[in-house]
Amino acid sequence: MKISDCYNVDDFRKLAKQKLPSPIFHYIDGGADDEATLRRNTEAFENCDLIPSVLTDVSKVDLSTTVLGQNIKFPFFLSPTAMHRMYHPDGEKGTAKAAEKLGTFFSLSTMANTSIEDVSKVSGGPKMFQLYIHKDQGLTDNLIERCKSSGFKAMCLTVDTIVAGNRERDHRTGFTTPPSLTLSSLLSFAMHPEWSVKYLLGGKLTLANVSHVTKKGSSIEMSIMDYLNEQFDRSMNWKHAEYAIKKWNGPFALKGIMSVEDAKKAIDIGASAIMISNHGGRQLDGSRAPFDQLQTIVDAVGGKIEIILDGGIKRGTHVLKALALGANACSIGKAYLYGLSAGGQEGVERAVGKLRDEVERGMTLMGCRSVKELTKDKVLFR
Ligand code: LAC
Repeated sequence: MKISDCYNVDDFRKLAKQKLPSPIFHYIDGGADDEATLRRNTEAFENCDLIPSVLTDVSKVDLSTTVLGQNIKFPFFLSPTAMHRMYHPDGEKGTAKAAEKLGTFFSLSTMANTSIEDVSKVSGGPKMFQLYIHKDQGLTDNLIERCKSSGFKAMCLTVDTIVAGNRERDHRTGFTTPPSLTLSSLLSFAMHPEWSVKYLLGGKLTLANVSHVTKKGSSIEMSIMDYLNEQFDRSMNWKHAEYAIKKWNGPFALKGIMSVEDAKKAIDIGASAIMISNHGGRQLDGSRAPFDQLQTIVDAVGGKIEIILDGGIKRGTHVLKALALGANACSIGKAYLYGLSAGGQEGVERAVGKLRDEVERGMTLMGCRSVKELTKDKVLFR
């Protein structure tokens, strides 16, 4: 199987599974506990049907929209995800270049393998930085200042990861960062020689943006769950969020908002956007799916703050449904990581490009010439 054989997210997932050693594939693919939320995130879209309009002259269809102060060419972007060089040597640089080429936001995680500065050297496209509040108090200021100097356009703070979710696949596979050579992982690496050779030639994997404050996860191998539990500040509260928003003083999203009350508080503290998200089902299993919760949040705060639907998106029609219900944009995580794992920058371009084509085809078949025409009367719940 090659990337040219992949036509949709699920094809890329299959190829990623072939290419990656199992601890790494399951780190991307998995969720918390029973993975009920992980499954529901995608299944939720099936409860709602699209109602097309016909005979509307769709010779021109405009997919573009504005989110977090940037015009993007299609109404979804790349959510922050950790450690891209572990999946492919192109790493964050490859993902950022793919996003720039396609015309959408790239997001760099605090847990990236590539520094803020190195990403900005290779990509002039719109970039967002994702912030995790570490116990090290100076780190937040340091990351925000560096993003300002490096021309990042937006910032998001992840608020749903106060401790790590219980990712049992990672316990079973012994996943660590950087990857550790145990007896069982050695077998998996040996079965994926292409990945292993690239990994060995690719230079050390570090958590490049935080390795100046801790060696854990960079030169000291550690499970990501232990890292999050040890390093993150559990006292994080609305004051921290407000502080980061003021300090950044630009487009700012809170990622992981699920309740109306919290959406209202996000407005009160001056956030520009909320990302309705349960961290791709990786944190609180049993948490409601973002799409199930979208309508309630739109009814309460729609028009007062930008609403980004994050989680479970595998098809262009999922994006159409979210937009019709009132989301300003959507974001994807696993969908582009499968592409990156399958074929580096080219894999991201093809995986995201296919999803964009699905959005375009779907809008055309819906009779919608612009994303504004995706209105609430175009969807109905069963
Ligand atoms: C994860 C964190 C690192 O989901 O965002 O693995």
